[in-house]
Amino acid sequence: MSFKDLLGIDDIPTEDIEEIFSLADEMLEVIKTGSGEANNKIMATLFFEPSTRTRLSFEAAMHRLGGDVISFADAKISSVAKGESIADTARVVGEYADIIIVRHPWEGAAKIAADHTDIPVINAGDGGHEHPTQTLCDLYTLKKEKGKIEGLSVALCGDLKYGRTVHSLAYGLAKFGLNIICIPGEGLEMPSHVLEKMEGDYNYSPTRIKPRDAKSLMEEADVVYITPSKSHQLSLFTDKDADIPIERDATQIMSKIDALYVTRVQKERFAKSEEGGGAKARYPVVNKNFLKNASFKETLVMHPLPRIDEISYDIDEDPRSMYFRQAARGVPIRMAISALLLGTRTLKGSSPKKTDNYEIYKNSRGVKCSNEKCVSTNETQGYLIPEFHLISHQPLVLRCVYCGHIIRPQYVGNSKSGKYFHFASSRVKWIGAKNLTLFNSREEADQAGFHP
Ligand code: CP
Repeated sequence: MSFKDLLGIDDIPTEDIEEIFSLADEMLEVIKTGSGEANNKIMATLFFEPSTRTRLSFEAAMHRLGGDVISFADAKISSVAKGESIADTARVVGEYADIIIVRHPWEGAAKIAADHTDIPVINAGDGGHEHPTQTLCDLYTLKKEKGKIEGLSVALCGDLKYGRTVHSLAYGLAKFGLNIICIPGEGLEMPSHVLEKMEGDYNYSPTRIKPRDAKSLMEEADVVYITPSKSHQLSLFTDKDADIPIERDATQIMSKIDALYVTRVQKERFAKSEEGGGAKARYPVVNKNFLKNASFKETLVMHPLPRIDEISYDIDEDPRSMYFRQAARGVPIRMAISALLLGTRTLKGSSPKKTDNYEIYKNSRGVKCSNEKCVSTNETQGYLIPEFHLISHQPLVLRCVYCGHIIRPQYVGNSKSGKYFHFASSRVKWIGAKNLTLFNSREEADQAGFHP
């Protein structure tokens, strides 16, 4: 195996993903017969946030492999409630188990755990960041139902801002070069750092439909399909400010979608300012009437679950409804990935992990991650030094290694000379990465003892 941990979907080389699906197929047989291959192995499930599917399917997967599971019934009764760090928790649990599964509200928490133990760690969802095993279930479902992944069009709908499942899925789909259409709820658009990663790492830019156009589009779906060329109907989508000619493209886009991936509003992740309705909690419901549109004859309706009211119960028996199948496939998929990381299985043609080409910037002084939900801004025990990938030297762009948020420091210090410069200064390019100290303001640089 080319990776010790599974923290983000990027950890798995694209070529290995299809092999993991073949292994999941084999695991369907193991479920019937049992293999005992993880006999004597222990999985620790550390869930600091609620879960039904991810936790129970991981635990079922481990039992199906013949292994055991240890856990705490509730994170509130673990020593984290006494102030123990994620690092210490992982270090200790790493002595009790052979693999750790972590879910945590802070973005990057699973990486901290992985950095502090020698045993494999799987990210079972870290805040609004990533949920890579859900993406494996989603891609596996596309493959099973459509017979292929390449060449498909997938619309990501709903809370694209806080939905960790759509972030991992967007990267996963971009890896395969699928056509991705973003249809966000109002105020819940795909974050810029996710779009920047898609652009920078995969040279991929999804089609984006503005929330208000999406609303018309979804609510008037019949109109869109039946007579897409009539001018009075096209005016539904007219938007002078649109980046793309919405009135034509949206109509064409909606008639070619292979899967509609719907997500719930992640209210628990709203910032204080959004709680009163800054981000709209509602968007069109996918129901029987919606699916009558002939455009959606072959369209799969997917959802990571849990749903609230964005998918009506009246389509549960519809053969296009995939959400319970996605959830069921969590067991063979998580058996496959657990067996791989435990070393009881290997991939035949395993590709080496594409190592990040970016230099690391790590410094206890100067810039910190600006994301208030990042583990690096929340873990207060003092061991965690902010760390970034240096995406670009000029202009200076850094990406937090924990949560993926982008920062653009305004001032650049040279720790050798003790001088600092504005980021646009031509002098910046002469400062080697190891001497860089980055600041958000002059005041910060002055306080750190640097001179202009
Ligand atoms: N899809 C998913 O992560 O579900 P749970 O929150 O129930 O684990």
